[in-house]
Amino acid sequence: MNKNLLIAGLLLFLSQVSLLAQTHQLLPQPKTLIAAEGHWTLDPGTVLVAESASARKSALLFSGLLETKTGFELPVLMQAPAHGSLIVLEESMVADNPEAYTLEVSGDGVIIRGADRGLFYGLQSLFQLVEMQGSNAVVPQVEIADAPAFGYRGIMLDVSRHFFSTAQVKKMLDLMSQLKFNTLHWHLTDDQGWRLEIKKYPKLTEIGAWRDSTIIGQYYDYQPFIYDNEKHGGYYTQEEAREIVRYAAERKITVIPEIELPGHSSAVLAAYPEFGSFEITEGTAKGTIAAENEKGEPLNHEISKQVPGYWGVHYNIYGPTPAAFSFLEDVLTEVMDIFPSEYIHIGGDEVPKDHWKTSAIAQKVIKKEKLEDEHELQSYFIQRIEAFLNENGRQIIGWDEILEGGLAPNATVMSWRGEQGGIDAAKMGHDVIMTPNSHLYFDHYQAEDKTTEPLAIGGFLPLEKVYSYSPVPEALSEEEAAHVLGVQANLWTEYIPTNQKMEYFLFPRALALAEVAWKTKEDKDYQSFLRDRLPARLLSLEKQGVFFRIPEAIVDISREPESGRQLIHIQPLVEGAKVYYTVDGHKADQTARLYTGPVLAPIPGKDQESLVLRYVTVTPGGRSSNEFHVPIE
Ligand code: ACM
Repeated sequence: MNKNLLIAGLLLFLSQVSLLAQTHQLLPQPKTLIAAEGHWTLDPGTVLVAESASARKSALLFSGLLETKTGFELPVLMQAPAHGSLIVLEESMVADNPEAYTLEVSGDGVIIRGADRGLFYGLQSLFQLVEMQGSNAVVPQVEIADAPAFGYRGIMLDVSRHFFSTAQVKKMLDLMSQLKFNTLHWHLTDDQGWRLEIKKYPKLTEIGAWRDSTIIGQYYDYQPFIYDNEKHGGYYTQEEAREIVRYAAERKITVIPEIELPGHSSAVLAAYPEFGSFEITEGTAKGTIAAENEKGEPLNHEISKQVPGYWGVHYNIYGPTPAAFSFLEDVLTEVMDIFPSEYIHIGGDEVPKDHWKTSAIAQKVIKKEKLEDEHELQSYFIQRIEAFLNENGRQIIGWDEILEGGLAPNATVMSWRGEQGGIDAAKMGHDVIMTPNSHLYFDHYQAEDKTTEPLAIGGFLPLEKVYSYSPVPEALSEEEAAHVLGVQANLWTEYIPTNQKMEYFLFPRALALAEVAWKTKEDKDYQSFLRDRLPARLLSLEKQGVFFRIPEAIVDISREPESGRQLIHIQPLVEGAKVYYTVDGHKADQTARLYTGPVLAPIPGKDQESLVLRYVTVTPGGRSSNEFHVPIE
């Protein structure tokens, strides 16, 4: 055969192999995908065709995103031109699911079918499929039929402990939409800061949004007890919050605001102490209320006009008074006006009941309403708020403590202290969202050796553990399991003061969560997630300027049959990354040996028990991972 032909044939074969790999890189992995041979090339002459305004908006967003990869945008038209290269969006419900879609790429072009959300997700899949080969933007020929396993796929962002700009929230929404998440739970209020402008109560943001100092030491050890004396704070104007809601909606993401009550309210009570559990008199207004619990221990009933700068459960909570309820109804009225979501999250977690035990105001309500104890008082509190929101056509979500003392009639429960709250609520016929702190608290450490990682609140939550989570607890019957709406990870930000640190704690774990939320337990496969899908997505994140944690490579050590020596294979998990390694005990960095293929381990010296592989992964963008160590047995 002619040598040139042979080379041309080989190149074609290699590009087919690469395109086939491309179809395996979709994340979350689609429900069904049939890859055909061949590809389709899109070029600046390709036209996106979309009839409805909403589909055109999705097409425009896709076109903008595509430009970051290909360098050109595509025109969006309402009707297909007589001829030419087309991506057609056909708006029609697929598989009875507004989030389902089909995507067909043939030699002639692309057709995506789905309802509004489905079309958006089809375009996200198409974006991931586009690969640059030289200056050509090529797409492998495929047929995809896809739909999510769960209707609620969320991430919670705490903006109280540290404030994040609208630009950063928008970046997070962009990234979430590429992974087909559909809910941002926005934790807008907590002890350390109130973050939403409320017109009727300006002091909420004048006072409640700012703190004078922040503890930056270890929360668990209380050592070192270091304060950063910088003023910290910020808030979203109503206009900015509406802009976030609009921006999210374009990306098919619902924003659920959380307004914490009756606990985690120190920031509110710094601004408006009159809504607390204790009468404000001359003496108490600036000081502390001397009180003790049943065991005679002193209680820290601080009436502080300062927003606290230290973490944990604070004692300053709302009083169940007409004034407080009226305040909360006013606040929630403004909140509902900004956020069209069906759900409003009302918190309900970590309410220190001791506080109400010693509050004359609380005790009076317990007696008057014939309540058993302070747990029932919390339930009374939540039920009043639920009734108000229900009257206004909204539903509440609360953390699982709202089960204690009697669950509000229509409440959805967010199970965070493990799964039990979710199990109990589902058995009672309530909807639940699973977000257990065992598997989905993204503020936890990503390596076992905490000294190698940035300071976190504690815990250890590696990628594999996130991936292993299955949102439907075994304890539920099929009927009860139908109450599990879905799954969410929580990003608490006590120890996350910067944008880069936020991205580091979110990624790559959010990539694993995307599959936990989109795929059924039976369809998940961690090894294929890791080997086939993760690397391309991490490269894509790097190109989008995301400061993800560079994960440990896959290191396989096998024995070479002839020599009996150890053979080390290293696969970095960022596409295009390089690995530098040592096996001689010295530090590995970019001056170490470049890994180019399997390495024969040296024979240990006679006093050496074993060797250690030390390596770093360096991304195409030039970022280095931590140095990782793997013993060679
Ligand atoms: C929580 O982590 N306190 C919901």
